[in-house]
Amino acid sequence: MSSTTPSPWWRSAVIYQVYIRSFADGDGDGVGDIAGLRSRLPYLKSLGVDALWINPWYKSPMADGGYDVADFRAIDPLFGTVADAEQLIEEAHRHGIRIIPDIVPNHTSNEHAWFRAALDAGPGSPERARYIFRPGRGPDGTQPPNNWVSCFGGPAWTRIPDGEWYLHLYAPEQPDLNWQHPDVHAEFESILRFWFDRGVDGFRIDVAHGLAKDPELPDLTREQIVHPHWDRDEVHDIYRAWRQVADEFPGERAFVAEAWADTPERLAAYVRPGGLHTAFNFDFLMASWDPKDLRTVIDDSLAMLSGVGAPATWVLSNHDVMRHASRYARRTVARWVPNERYQPEGPVDLELGTRRARAAALLMLALPGGAYIYQGDELGLPEVEDLPEDVLEDPIWERSGHTDRGRDGCRVPIPWSGQAEPFGFSPDDAYAGPWLPQPTSWGERSVEAQTGDETSMLELYRTALRLRRDHPALGDGTITWQDAPAGVLAFHREPGFLCVVNLSDDAYQLPEHTAILLASGPVADGRVEPEHAVWLAV
Ligand code: GLC
Repeated sequence: MSSTTPSPWWRSAVIYQVYIRSFADGDGDGVGDIAGLRSRLPYLKSLGVDALWINPWYKSPMADGGYDVADFRAIDPLFGTVADAEQLIEEAHRHGIRIIPDIVPNHTSNEHAWFRAALDAGPGSPERARYIFRPGRGPDGTQPPNNWVSCFGGPAWTRIPDGEWYLHLYAPEQPDLNWQHPDVHAEFESILRFWFDRGVDGFRIDVAHGLAKDPELPDLTREQIVHPHWDRDEVHDIYRAWRQVADEFPGERAFVAEAWADTPERLAAYVRPGGLHTAFNFDFLMASWDPKDLRTVIDDSLAMLSGVGAPATWVLSNHDVMRHASRYARRTVARWVPNERYQPEGPVDLELGTRRARAAALLMLALPGGAYIYQGDELGLPEVEDLPEDVLEDPIWERSGHTDRGRDGCRVPIPWSGQAEPFGFSPDDAYAGPWLPQPTSWGERSVEAQTGDETSMLELYRTALRLRRDHPALGDGTITWQDAPAGVLAFHREPGFLCVVNLSDDAYQLPEHTAILLASGPVADGRVEPEHAVWLAV
């Protein structure tokens, strides 16, 4: 960028998502933790990421992998202590890596002190007013207050012994907070300050689009224009206040919203001036592996976000969705239906999925804005689609009546080294196996196996991140599409950079260039094969 003040870090950061339960186990109990993460900071440094988003590490009964928080100012003993977190933040900063924990404001755990007090205090009490309690419908109040459904299946309401019902858009162990209550606002602003004081560089906001509910709690209907609990305009008031809290602290603290919005316009509303800094662009993740679909998503996202002065963020996988190496392993990747779980069809061709994942990485990392890497993306890990039923932990499995296996397949502990479980995930003298079993074949995908192998996914990511850091055209900025045959995406970035992704069925003769900076596969006679991408100096 040509401006004299450097653009803030969050406009172009590569953020690595640490699903802490599955990243690295320091104490041998089979669950990842802060000690394990600290020991792997040199790896993350050498990979070349700018920041880590860490999934919830707070005290939790783990009904939803830590997204059911019992105490936001304590670290769960599974992961360590607040002192460990402080040490991690300090060490990461010494490596030049920022830390962004998750914050979960839509709900607490049913074991949170507030919810326990609410249960004890009884109907009509001030304690209940911090959550969403209502009498039931029907003569005996045996019907839920409305027809809302839980994202994990079944009704969004649970009845308690005194006859009242409480709302939970997720599991019954995750009661929704009442964001019309001033205590809730004050408490979360205080929690933000607690962690900002400890040096965190920002937060990923869980279910950022869910906090505001229609006070009338109307039934869901097919016709509604404004949804009663998703993406309501009132949420933005909350985030304007949060932005002010972040701005109280030095050092460009930044938010990223997990906001599932129906249109790029609705998403852009979260990142207007005075609001949040960034929001995940799930349209990119949900796009099919199709040149038209991808180009539309890229253009619409860039247009909408630049319209409000915000950077785009690009993401291919996370702990909630099927890993993209497996999504793309289906020859036809159907476009995802928003608000529905992705149900892929057709035979799995992992070689194809891997080729596409390599090309997708170069596409994503060449686009303007920030990018997210989910742990294991850089190893090309596929979804583990055959976990035995008796190890599944995701509440979706139970709540769907065993019709949806849930999200455990993308949460399997990652392989670091060796040829057998736990593949370096846990120390040699571990007293427990990994909390989810690892495929026996994962030795060949480990960090150790891929390091130094120029053809590996890991070295592709490492090189791409190094080039991205050094090349003045990459990161924040704009793109210009170049003419190319149908099925080929080619865009130029100033100065002197061209990204070409070949999604057609034919090899593509590269345009004039001074050098091939990086390619996702072999380029012979200047031709890039189908399902491959190339970065060129032009
Ligand atoms: C978000 C998280 C997901 C969690 C849910 C409820 O969507 O990413 O993992 O289950 O919120 O907190």
